[in-house]
Amino acid sequence: MSMFPVYPVFDVEPISAEGAWVMDANGQRYLDFYGGHAVISIGHRHPHYVKRMKDQMDRISFYSNSVPIAIQHELDKKLGQICCYHDFQLFLCNSGAEAIENAFKVASSVNGRSKILTFNKAFHGRTSLAVAATDNPKLVFPVNEGAEIIRCELGNHEEVAEHLATKEVCCVIIEGIQGVGGIVESSDEFLRFLRKECTNTGTQLIMDEVQSGFGRTGYFFAHQYSGIRPDVITMAKGMGNGFPVGGILIAPEIEAFPGMLGTTYGGNHLACAASLAVLEVLESENLMQHAQEMGAYLIERLSTHTAIKEIRGKGLMIGLEFSELVAEMRKKLLYEQFIFTGSSSNPNTIRLLPPLNITQAQIDYFLNGLKQVIQD
Ligand SMILES: Cc1ncc(COP(=O)(O)O)c(C=O)c1O
Repeated sequence: MSMFPVYPVFDVEPISAEGAWVMDANGQRYLDFYGGHAVISIGHRHPHYVKRMKDQMDRISFYSNSVPIAIQHELDKKLGQICCYHDFQLFLCNSGAEAIENAFKVASSVNGRSKILTFNKAFHGRTSLAVAATDNPKLVFPVNEGAEIIRCELGNHEEVAEHLATKEVCCVIIEGIQGVGGIVESSDEFLRFLRKECTNTGTQLIMDEVQSGFGRTGYFFAHQYSGIRPDVITMAKGMGNGFPVGGILIAPEIEAFPGMLGTTYGGNHLACAASLAVLEVLESENLMQHAQEMGAYLIERLSTHTAIKEIRGKGLMIGLEFSELVAEMRKKLLYEQFIFTGSSSNPNTIRLLPPLNITQAQIDYFLNGLKQVIQD
């Protein structure tokens, strides 16, 4: 047998890791400024994370949702406290795309509608409705084409208002900050406009915080900069620091009924231990404030580079747009400067998503590597 070859891969295989570093078999270390698609939130093999996972495995790692699972309630309490959505309800699943699919179900259970309004350059995952809502026709196959998708320009009030006025739209879905699209922010004012229009038209507002959530931008969720309160919030990636965990937060007025949503693995003991460990480290190491400070430091240092056309993002979710294509630059960063960075659907933009406990010295290492590459 062989693997179904769907992933373009770099010629570097990390075999061990610690904090913001990954190591290959030759002992070469690489700075991880990408966290494997924004997943590594508290650093590789954080001691508290490793201990909590090991302790959990020594007791029980899995039983299905047909029995009480106390650690789920430990998680919903801690999460409610840290993200400030105390009164919301938590449904746990295993990935970002699964969170999105469930968010759509919840939204349509509220208003009985089926149209989804989404935006240019959006990325919401690769499963059924999630991929239909994603702005990349190459990922969509005939089986995904039945969805009723309305795609609007990000920031275009008139276009959105016109569609919502029909009162036929089930939900608006928008990323806290667009990630795969190249780190593109919506203005606070646009998010407030969406909140108001959704409320006025009985449309559900889903914030996709799969990439921008869990402290990544310096607030727990990126949309919290705007002060809005969505109906449903999706989460994954940094939520488990590498263990597959996804989830949705659901507004208190939305009612569940038995069997409405479900999954075999979602909310298993190990997944909850992973996510609790992440939250405990976010809190004990004050990582949201650290992300704000390190992000500000990084942006300030980057702003002296004339080769960079635009710097976008908040906290430690940063996009660097250049006048030229960045594929070669990223290869040089990896093979010559030993630094992992991320691409995006914008071929001129590099995505930076380091662990939230990245140090200033590690940022300086990145800045030095970038300088060498830009000078070449
Ligand atoms: C904003 C956003 N939503 C959803 C997803 C899908 O997450 P997953 O790959 O865990 O299914 C991603 C993945 O990159 C994402 O960035």
